[in-house]
Amino acid sequence: MASPAEEMEALRQQAFNCTDCDLACTRRHVVFGEGNPYAEVVLVGEGPGEWEDRTGRPFVGRAGKLLDAALKEAGLRREELYITNIVKCRATSEVGGRLRNRPPRVSEVRACRKWLEAQLRIIHPEVLVCIGGPAASLLLHKGFKMTDERGKWFPDTPYAPLAMAVLHPAYVLRQDGEDFLRARELLIEDLRKVRERL
Ligand code: URA
Repeated sequence: MASPAEEMEALRQQAFNCTDCDLACTRRHVVFGEGNPYAEVVLVGEGPGEWEDRTGRPFVGRAGKLLDAALKEAGLRREELYITNIVKCRATSEVGGRLRNRPPRVSEVRACRKWLEAQLRIIHPEVLVCIGGPAASLLLHKGFKMTDERGKWFPDTPYAPLAMAVLHPAYVLRQDGEDFLRARELLIEDLRKVRERL
């Protein structure tokens, strides 16, 4: 029987050839996800942005740098986790001749979620962390309200015995001054709760 590491590698190879939605036409790289296939904690964001598309790695742009710092402050090491996204290819629209990130369409999420679900089946995490509202609405419940529900534990989910949503670091970066500091602290505080469960 294949080990989780072997299964994940086989899945990655399949995903690299995926053409199940139009994002395949514009992507530079499939951003499959990375980290420990035996991780106790899996983090799921919405989808790759420009730097992720360029490098093929999740959360490596500005939001990724903030996430790394918050993980460190919370006492979590990125290498011991598994990090991925709902959709594996960058979603863009052209505005004034420039490519901008846009949220993935329902049809794109529908075409792509099989990869995430297979990743979660292989890893069987103890804790699932949804990074931001879109991941929480997809994986915890529809219409998830970040302001009321972030940082709360959701037990017995289909994907993990425990799950939580945290603020998306891109949201934190959009805040100014005191609001930025407060949002950053909330992200760290919630990640600390995750660490305390391990
Ligand atoms: N935002 C996400 O949701 N995922 C990434 O990988 C990067 C930014």
